[in-house]
Amino acid sequence: MTTGSPRVLPADSGVAEAAAVLRAGGLVAFPTETVYGLGANALDARAAARIFEAKARPSFDPLITHLADAVDLPALVGAVPPAVAALVERFWPGPLTLIVDRPAAIPPIVTSGLDTMAVRVPDEPSARALIAAAGVPVAAPSANRFGQLSPTRAEHVVAGLGDAVDVVLDGGPTRCGIESTIVDARGDRPVVLRLGALPVEALVEAVGPVTVRPGSSGQPVAPGTLAAHYAPRTPLRIGTAEQASGGGRRGFLAFRERPAAGDWAAVEVLSPDGDLTAAAARLFDALHRLDAAGVTEIVAEPVPDVGVGRAINDRLRRAAATWH
Ligand code: TXA
Ligand code: MG
Repeated sequence: MTTGSPRVLPADSGVAEAAAVLRAGGLVAFPTETVYGLGANALDARAAARIFEAKARPSFDPLITHLADAVDLPALVGAVPPAVAALVERFWPGPLTLIVDRPAAIPPIVTSGLDTMAVRVPDEPSARALIAAAGVPVAAPSANRFGQLSPTRAEHVVAGLGDAVDVVLDGGPTRCGIESTIVDARGDRPVVLRLGALPVEALVEAVGPVTVRPGSSGQPVAPGTLAAHYAPRTPLRIGTAEQASGGGRRGFLAFRERPAAGDWAAVEVLSPDGDLTAAAARLFDALHRLDAAGVTEIVAEPVPDVGVGRAINDRLRRAAATWH
């Protein structure tokens, strides 16, 4: 558990100091457009090992390597297959993580021993400035303890990781609020390994048909082991306000309207306008708040299963799977 607080710096003015910490082998949490990442120098096996330690993350769960700019990809990995290059061209910087061959410069601990590597360029100026100033690729999973809710605010990182992280760059709430979409486009037909902030529909429009891998957990070594993930500490189940029963103080996560029925101790509404992008941006923040509301159960209403709504429902299912 944590014993103290990390240094929290503004995301803009703190970049140089945070970059120096990365170069010295330290851990820096930083905002991306999706969620906050827990970064370390991806070329430094000892620094990467500290990420697994800080998160209590199993060593079989590989990290995503972050670059400052798409032009840095060929410099690190050499040529990539045309379909990968097309996705880079179309969607970077942005919430799309691509699978490439692991270059020799990246130590195997970063990829959990896989001969492939997940890589992306985040669409967040301070993140790109940090990586550029560090002058190295930055390995960064979400900055939460393994299995828990992803952080969309610096406060979430501080509460979850404490001084297991050296520096937190605070850039306010993240824009997308949900992790990147992970795609393996090395074969004939791109495979979505994890649903995320870039909707499947946008991928299809850009590159034609894709396969959405059943489960889409993004876990290549032991599929299914991450079926339970993204979980609040409070038991969560998926349901509607009408179906809800049982006593105790219960919280409700609504898509667009406060429930008319039921006796709820706390309610969070994701988007009164029914906007899925806005709902995704608020998802983890709302779950963090319900978790802090002292309720004994959270009932979460599913959202329409289109666009980024698919990724929201995926996160809710994984959160529920932890408890059932
Ligand atoms: O939006 C995001 O992707 C955020 C920000 C910080 O960039 N990062 C993030 O990292 O969500 P993380 O560690 O929470 O999730 C990364 C997932 C791993 O759980 C793993 O399943 C998948 O990426 N992954 C990493 N390397 C892979 C590989 N070589 N092949 C297949 N999946 C891989
Ligand atoms: Mg994560």
